[in-house]
Formats: sequence, C-alpha cells, structure tokens
Amino acid sequence: IDIKTLRSVTGGFTTIDPGYKNTGACESAITFLDGEKGILRYRGYSIEELAEKADFLEVAYLLIFGELPNKAELDKFHADIKKHAVVDDDIKKILDAFPKSAHPMGVLASLTSALTAFNPTSVNVESEEDMYNAIVRILGKFPILVAWTMRKKKGMPLEYGSSSLGYVENILKMMFKHPNEDYVQNPILVNALDKLLILHADHEQNCSTSTVRIVGSSHAGLFASLAAGISALWGPLHGGANQAVLEMLEGIKKDGGDTKKYMGKAKDKEDPFRLMGFGHRVYKNFDPRAKIIKVAADDVLTNLGIEDPILDIAKGLEKEALEDAYFVDRKLYPNVDFYSGIIYRGMDIPTEMFTVMFALGRLPGWIAQWREMRLRKEPIGRPRQLYIGETHRPFKDISKR
Ligand code: ACO
Repeated sequence: IDIKTLRSVTGGFTTIDPGYKNTGACESAITFLDGEKGILRYRGYSIEELAEKADFLEVAYLLIFGELPNKAELDKFHADIKKHAVVDDDIKKILDAFPKSAHPMGVLASLTSALTAFNPTSVNVESEEDMYNAIVRILGKFPILVAWTMRKKKGMPLEYGSSSLGYVENILKMMFKHPNEDYVQNPILVNALDKLLILHADHEQNCSTSTVRIVGSSHAGLFASLAAGISALWGPLHGGANQAVLEMLEGIKKDGGDTKKYMGKAKDKEDPFRLMGFGHRVYKNFDPRAKIIKVAADDVLTNLGIEDPILDIAKGLEKEALEDAYFVDRKLYPNVDFYSGIIYRGMDIPTEMFTVMFALGRLPGWIAQWREMRLRKEPIGRPRQLYIGETHRPFKDISKR
C-alpha cells in the first residue's frame, strides 16, 4: 500500500512513537543492520571485510556512490578532493576568536556552518554534478577543520597537509606535525585510524544521520545539513559517548578501580549513572564494530608499547556485564564507543576530540544519506504530534493574570 492511499484510508491517522523506536523514516540502499544478529553491511559488504581489506576513502566512495571504486575512479575521486584541501583564510580568524576552552564539537559545527558563507556554490545544489562538487569540496575541507580544531586546542600553529599523502595519512600529518619537524609516518597509527573511520562511516538512520536527512529535506544545503548532524552527534547518548566512556574509565581508575561498585551504580534506578559505551537502540547482541575495535585497541597499545590500565578496567567491566543478569536481560553489550577512546588516547588525541574523530568517520555516511534523500526526491520531513495542551480559552488581560 502506498503512503497516499494509507493516509486516505486512515483519514490522516497519526501514530505516536517516541524516539521513533518502531518508525522507519525512509527507504535506503546504503547500510544494512540486523541488531538481533549483530550484522552490519555497507552496500552489501560486511563491516568485518571492509575494516580488514579496504581503506577509508574507498569506503567513502562505496557509501556515497554505491559501488567499490576501481583504481581510476578512486584516483580521480582523491584528486578531486585534494583540489579542495584548502579553506578561506578568514576561517583562521573565526577559529582564533574561540576561547581555547571551547569544546571542539561546538567549534567544528560552527566552522562547518561557516563554510556555507565561503562556498556559496555549494549551498543550493540540484544537479548530480553540483552534488558531486559539493561532496568533494567538503571531503577536502573537513579534515582541515578537524585537524585545526585540535591544533587550536593544543596551541599549535595551523598547518596544511601534503598532497602526496593518502587521505588518512594526510589527516594524521595535519593533526600532529610541528612545522619544523620531519614527519615520519607511523603505519600502525594510519592503519588504526583507517579502521576506526571505516567502522564509524555509516549506521543507517541514527540520531545525527536522521538530523542530516531532515535538515536536508527542506533543501538546506549539504554543509548546513552536516553542521546540524555534528550538533546531534555531540550528545553523550550518541557520539559524545566516546568522550564519556573515557571520562568514566578515568573516574573509576581514580576511585581505586572498583568496577563492581560502578556496576552496582549502573543497575541502581535511583542513580543517574549509566555504564557509558554499553547498550544500543538497535543492537540487542554484540555490536560487530565493538568486536573489531577491541582487538584493534589491544594491537595498537601493544605495538606502541603502551600499557594502559584503563584498557584493563574496560575489559573488566565488559566481563562483569556479560555475566550480570541486569545487562544480559536487557541485552546491553559494549557498543562501538566502548573501546574507540582507548585507541584515540593511545594515538595522543585529547579526550575532548574523540567525538570530532567520530564526525570525521561519519562524514561519508551523512553525505551518502543526504545524496540518496535528494536523488530520491523525498518530501520535507515533518512529523505530526498528539496535542495534549489546553483546549480553547479566552485571552486574559495582563492585569488579571
Ligand atoms: N547502563 C545501564 N543501564 C542501561 C544502559 C546503560 N548504559 N543502557 C540502557 N540501560 C537500561 C535502561 O535503564 C533501561 O532499563 P529499564 O528497562 O529497567 O528501564 C533499559 O536498559 C533500556 O534502555 P533504554 O534507555 O530504554 O534504551 P534506548 O534504546 O532508548 O537507549 C542508549 C539506547 C541511548 C544507547 C542507551 O543504551 C544508553 O544510554 N547507553 C549509554 C550511552 C552510550 O553508550 N551511547 C552510545 C550509543 S552508540 C552510538 O550512538 C554511536
């Protein structure tokens, strides 16, 4: 039954579904997710295989255009992106105006919004060609915003990367290189970041992606839609969980490492404490991304020769939760963000930057979903409500209130 017939049959009947737990907002051919079985696929390819065999740029192409690129397609895509790996000088002034204490997610959302002012041709895009140009533009510029947000936080001068490097290598260079320092590529870090970005690249209609689609559905431009998605991602119940997990693990460590105490707090309904990095709206089984990240966290720390007691606390919490009736009954498993922060910390990325790294990974997913929505000519997103307020009442003069 099509939606027009449904509305005429029901007389415009409105369903209430807080949190959209059972409401599909669109049809999509991008990401398949089976939360009961713990399966995640991008365009039909399993996340395990992509994380092992592909690089982030290939995955971005796959998500956005639907197929894995051949060598020539990938080279062209990368070359087009590199042409736009520069931002207007005034972006530096905007960045300078933020206090050093500003949260990087607020800064990133603002800078992404600011890009609309400097790239007017990317604002109202209609044709596929215009869309392509807006897409390569943002893929070129976004890593600069990410890297500079971190450099500002660390008080480092703002630097561009190098066009001879791979997409992810270049991101690392822009984030870490000091101007007078020879840059030595660490393949362990490149590989770990590639993997993390791939694992975060799309996750169907989550809070930030739905935000991007709904903002884009009013035909607001790509960059404006992305800025809204970044704000949605910031919250601790969504992408902000990776920062919250690390802060929680630090807190447990400072408090003597008593994981049982915190398990008790998480189960206590009077206590607002939640085990951050646990539970998921859709996964009622192991988050397949968490499995891959757990192994990567072990590899990265071992390869870098870091012994981090935080990793032991995380593993301890996971073990206890998997044996605890409260978590088992509610099907609460570690999600993608339970271990990602441990890797970022090993890479010397500040805790407040973790959600920015998530945004960097999610960028191709947001773009793919926005493009799909526009190409399918979806109508403007406009949920209804069940009104529960006052019925009609006469106006009361201010002297009588
Ligand atoms: N710790 C303790 N209890 C939890 C947790 C948790 N992390 N997560 C869920 N529960 C409990 C709830 O209290 C509730 O219990 P009840 O049935 O006795 O009332 C039950 O499990 C169901 O939880 P809901 O909040 O109803 O599930 P929902 O699907 O709305 O929320 C969410 C999912 C937001 C991810 C939740 O599990 C949570 O807050 N987790 C911690 C934050 C987090 O890690 N977010 C990242 C998600 S992944 C991502 O966005 C990238």
